[in-house]
Amino acid sequence: MSRKRDWDASEVYRTTKCFGSWSRNKDGTHYNGAFPAGFMKWIRTMEWWGDERVYLCAGMIEDPQSIRIDIRPEVNPTHTEDARHTSLGDESADWVMLDPPYSKQLAKDMYDTEKYYSGINGFAKEAARIVKPGGLILTLTYEIPKRIPGCDFIAVCGVYTVPMTGYMRCFTVSRKTGEPIEPKRTANPQEVLSF
Ligand SMILES: C[S@@+](CC[C@H](N)C(=O)[O-])C[C@H]1O[C@@H](n2cnc3c(N)ncnc32)[C@H](O)[C@@H]1O
Repeated sequence: MSRKRDWDASEVYRTTKCFGSWSRNKDGTHYNGAFPAGFMKWIRTMEWWGDERVYLCAGMIEDPQSIRIDIRPEVNPTHTEDARHTSLGDESADWVMLDPPYSKQLAKDMYDTEKYYSGINGFAKEAARIVKPGGLILTLTYEIPKRIPGCDFIAVCGVYTVPMTGYMRCFTVSRKTGEPIEPKRTANPQEVLSF
């Protein structure tokens, strides 16, 4: 017997997206686990964007106009905190990106953060608290999060980077129930982000 959903899965955008290399910081260095080159531009082009941006598990993302939460002070976050329990206010951001370590072993090997590891759902719960109604939550991991309470998926995509095709990840975009928040347009969108 099929169970009826209270949302329409046929409206969820799906695709597979392949990137050609890993991103580098302005000084040419590469942070382990950083997004593929062009990933943030793609997100913006797809209009999965917000003016008040929060990165949970930010790593070395170069987005100076954002709030960046990471447990490791050496990556210069705006807040050195556990991204599952932040000091940010309820419904205080338009847009929240989650890019945690994808497994406990990777958390240990890449960042020495295994004691702060959990699957995506603990981070997603915190994102749902922080994001405003109509705002977006984006996740990139090996898992699709459970449908985030109070949110609907609007996109579920496979993301991989040549030549690491063995490590396809799942990228999701969810919107918290509410009137969609439209980001303000800037004269030159390229000026806002360097990546
Ligand atoms: C996959 S990397 C993020 C890379 C980032 N997307 C970039 O482009 O640089 C994951 C980050 O999560 C951080 N992290 C791990 N567990 C955390 C936790 N519980 N709270 C906050 N940060 C955490 C690690 O220190 C690491 O910088």
